[in-house]
Amino acid sequence: MVATQFTIFFIFSFFAINLVVGDDGFARIMDSKLFGMKKEKLSHFRLYWHDIVSGRNPSSVAVTAPENNSLTAFGMIRMIDNPLTMGPELSSKMMGRAQGLYSFASQEGIGLLMAMNFAFTEGKYNGSTITILGMDSVFSEVREVPVVGGSGLFRFGRGYVQAKTHWLDPSTKDAIVRYDCYVLHY
Ligand SMILES: *[C@@H]1O[C@H](CO)[C@@H](O)[C@H](O)[C@H]1NC(C)=O
Ligand SMILES: *[C@@H]1O[C@H](CO)[C@@H](O)[C@H](O)[C@H]1NC(C)=O
Repeated sequence: MVATQFTIFFIFSFFAINLVVGDDGFARIMDSKLFGMKKEKLSHFRLYWHDIVSGRNPSSVAVTAPENNSLTAFGMIRMIDNPLTMGPELSSKMMGRAQGLYSFASQEGIGLLMAMNFAFTEGKYNGSTITILGMDSVFSEVREVPVVGGSGLFRFGRGYVQAKTHWLDPSTKDAIVRYDCYVLHY
C-alpha cells in the first residue's frame, strides 16, 4: 500500500517536474556529464600580484579620492590592471593580469573590498578566469578572500585565495602581494 502510494507520488512528481522544466519551456535539466563535468578537482596556484601605483606607467589608478583624507582612506576606489607573475620579480614569467578594482571599505583600520578577475594568459589556462570578491584586511599577515566563480577551465569554480604581502614600499605604496589560490573546478 505504502509502495503504491509512493509510486503514485513518484509518477505525479515526475509529471510535475516535466510540467515545470519540460523541453518546450525555457528551462530544462541538463546532463552535467555532457558538459565534461566528470570529477571535481582542487587546483592550487601561486601568483605574485604587482600593485604599481607610482611612476609613469601605474597599473593601479585612483578613481575617487579618499573622503576627507581620512587615515583609513575610506571611500577611495582604485581600478587595477595588475601584472600577475610566476615569481616575485616583475621580470619573471607573466601568467596573467588581475583586472578589477579595490576600494577602502572600512572606517576602522584599513579594509579593502577586492573585486577582481584573475585573467590568465599562459598555456592551457590562457583565456580562463577566476573571480575574487571579498574583504582583505591588508595589515593582517595572511588574508583569506573567497573565489566566487570562474570561466573557461574554471567554470563552476569556487574556493579561496590567501594573500600575503611580499613587499611594500612605504613611500610610494607600490606593493607585491603573494596569492595562493585554491580553486575547486571540473
Ligand atoms: C571632514 O573633516 C572635518 C574635520 O574633522 C569635519 O568637520 C567634516 O565634517 C568632515 N567632512 C566629511 C564630509 O566627512
Ligand atoms: C592566448 O590567447 C590569445 C587569444 O586567443 C592569443 O592571441 C595568445 O597568443 C595566447 N597566448 C599564449 C601564450 O598562448
